[in-house]
Amino acid sequence: MKKTVLTGIKPTGQIHLGNYIGAIKPALELAKAADYQPAYFIADYHGLTKIHDQNELKQLSYGVAATWLALGLDPSKVIFYRQSDIPEIFELTWILSCFSSKGLMNRAHAYKALVDQNNELERDNDYGVNMGTFTYPILMAADILMLQADIVPVGKDQIQHIEIARDIAEVFNHQYGQTLKLPEYKVQQHTAILPGLDGRKMSKSYHNTIPLFIHPNKLQKLINKIKTDSLPPEAPKNSTTSSLFTLYKEFATPLEVESMRESYQTGVSWGEVKAELFHVLNRFLEEPREKYKELIASPHKLDEILLQGAENARSIATPFLKELKRKIGFSQN
Ligand code: TRP
Repeated sequence: MKKTVLTGIKPTGQIHLGNYIGAIKPALELAKAADYQPAYFIADYHGLTKIHDQNELKQLSYGVAATWLALGLDPSKVIFYRQSDIPEIFELTWILSCFSSKGLMNRAHAYKALVDQNNELERDNDYGVNMGTFTYPILMAADILMLQADIVPVGKDQIQHIEIARDIAEVFNHQYGQTLKLPEYKVQQHTAILPGLDGRKMSKSYHNTIPLFIHPNKLQKLINKIKTDSLPPEAPKNSTTSSLFTLYKEFATPLEVESMRESYQTGVSWGEVKAELFHVLNRFLEEPREKYKELIASPHKLDEILLQGAENARSIATPFLKELKRKIGFSQN
């Protein structure tokens, strides 16, 4: 039996280089392994915890879908779908809610961070927290447990959510016998921290990202904004602590990386490094950028692909949910 590898991306912002290196690229590589069945999806109902503008949510969801496809996802091999097209996930979310202690949710990092922020600003603990945000980990557990995922590739910040999914599954299994499969997480260690424009981790919340599919002129401008120190061109530079080098390494050939490492040792101007970084990045992005443009201009095509994927996902979800409901004591004739 093939192992199921499952991951989701929330449509809450433009996909950036950090998303690509940290999540999409490793997931696409895993998808090539013959012994894995990948299931990758757009977590649009998770997006709804934050995005309440109809048009924005729709465009961001199409954006995530077009990004995966433009970067090489093959929908004939990957179960590729939109969470909101699988109603079984929401039935399961309720079931799981009844096996999730409220305390477990209170301890979830994302919620705790909001509470801490409210405390700091001397507001009510739960100011601005909707129930979707509070129970976010249960919906995520349903995503994972519904498709009986074995492996979930995620960023470090999501590890706790996988642990919560395991906890909930164990409570359920304890009551009804071995039913829900406990997932393992897989964190891409070496690529976990792609630096952003300011040198901190590239992340939407820091507003320091380089979006993947922007106009080359804009790409160039953003690269020029990447923070460097003020060493003169002739001074030897440290490649291991350089954001530019870290980014370059991900997109350049091994030969190019070696030659850049040497340039750092012998002295090179930051301007030259930036020009080289633009060159390798743009070389990589050129083709997917065109594909992305095409796809985003044909939402019907995207819908068609995603609905086919939803059908595939439901061929697993529908019978499995039936089995769960039978175990719980609902009549499923
Ligand atoms: N919470 C994840 C994130 O913000 C997105 C997500 C939703 C997800 N459901 C999932 C990831 C299931 C892996 C598996 O990145």
